[in-house]
Amino acid sequence: MVWDEIERKLRKKIGLDPKTLGSYAIAKAVRERMAVCGVENVATYFNIWLCSPEELQALIEETVVPETWFFREPESFEFLRRYVLFDWLPTHPEGVLRLLSVPCSTGEEPYSLAIMLLDAGLSPSNFVIDAVDISKKAQEKAKQGLYREHSFRGKPLGFRHRYFQKTPHGYQLSPAVKETVNFIQGNLLEPLFLYGKPLYDIIFFRNLLIYLEPAARDRAMQVLNRLLSPTGLLFVGSAEAGPVIEKRFISLRHSMTFAYRKRQKSDGTDRFCILPNDPEHAPLRVLQPSSPPSPSRFNCASKPVHSAEPAPEARRSHPQSSWAIAPSPPSPPKRIPESPLIHARHLADLGRLNEAAQVCETYLSQHRTDANAYVLLGEILQGAGHQERAEQCWEKAIYLEPHHYEALMHLLLLKESHGDLTHASALRQRIQRLLKSQGE
Ligand SMILES: C[S@@+](CC[C@H](N)C(=O)[O-])C[C@H]1O[C@@H](n2cnc3c(N)ncnc32)[C@H](O)[C@@H]1O
Repeated sequence: MVWDEIERKLRKKIGLDPKTLGSYAIAKAVRERMAVCGVENVATYFNIWLCSPEELQALIEETVVPETWFFREPESFEFLRRYVLFDWLPTHPEGVLRLLSVPCSTGEEPYSLAIMLLDAGLSPSNFVIDAVDISKKAQEKAKQGLYREHSFRGKPLGFRHRYFQKTPHGYQLSPAVKETVNFIQGNLLEPLFLYGKPLYDIIFFRNLLIYLEPAARDRAMQVLNRLLSPTGLLFVGSAEAGPVIEKRFISLRHSMTFAYRKRQKSDGTDRFCILPNDPEHAPLRVLQPSSPPSPSRFNCASKPVHSAEPAPEARRSHPQSSWAIAPSPPSPPKRIPESPLIHARHLADLGRLNEAAQVCETYLSQHRTDANAYVLLGEILQGAGHQERAEQCWEKAIYLEPHHYEALMHLLLLKESHGDLTHASALRQRIQRLLKSQGE
């Protein structure tokens, strides 16, 4: 079947798991490209597609999900800010911090990193940011640095006043920030991806893993392992933490921050220090992988990375590094009880969708008003091919929380993929109103 072949080739090229987009999304993208090429027969289109690298790229552009915004999941930026100030700088007073944002989509993530570092008092000569995405269109937009309201979904927005200029076409990023990011078009799954580049101290790899099929997930983690320095930090998205990462990396287990270090040993008994040596907080603590972090440490709300005031704390001298690897633990690690929803997410990542759905349903029988749990259950059901039940879950989430962004987005994509343009348009307007109200 031609359709199966197209899906298979896309899977191979970019690792895309078509289930994550909904069953009609690929077909819709192909039909759009057929219309542009003026071709009516899918077999004819397939032949063009096979022979033309431009057409392959054009279909990739149609299938990728470029969703992103400034300071998305801000806790990771705050964690990194403290790490840079209280750990990295004291031990590398003359060093240049190397960061990679992959995938960077339209640039909001690498520019947020740059803004955070500048606000922390670093000068552009103290860091290098490489930013990679497979989408040419996204890269072009990133290089322009011109953004609309929907790129600013968090609060506070102090950074926008300092680093952007409002124009009739949107918010224009200042050249001083733009110049700190090197955009590179590339496919993370290519064997020679960023080959020959020096290792990175920090890698942001967020919100791509969820779209990849299992083999591609493993390949991605292998590539990142190759690119990260032995003492570097890897950040993933909140929906992505799980076993596929933990095969090669150890979680720093900090609440709301999905940060990892490379494993030093293969037997899983690594011990590590989990928190930077932040003089504002309690003294350094060395934890085993299984120990829960102290909830009072690292209060992310204390000094948000994108507050209105810059925090020129950089390059102060701090006596010691806190990231030492300690010897093996004396006793076997205990397991941390996982939240049922994180457990469900792990099961789903492993492809155990029925079990994941069961965990969510049990959880929901006791927490009937948890909109996030309905959203997750909807995602799992959609992955298992139960479109209608997935839709009901997202509708329930919106009933419970009328402004639930993810639920609205899922429903919008579903309606679009079903060709239900009337409902899709109503949902799109609702999302736009929501984003507007949050941006002001
Ligand atoms: C949802 S965005 C994530 C952006 C950002 N990291 C964030 O978390 O906001 C996903 C991006 O992955 C890119 N992408 C998909 N497959 C890729 C691949 N194989 N290599 C590099 N980028 C890829 C898409 O073009 C899209 O821009």
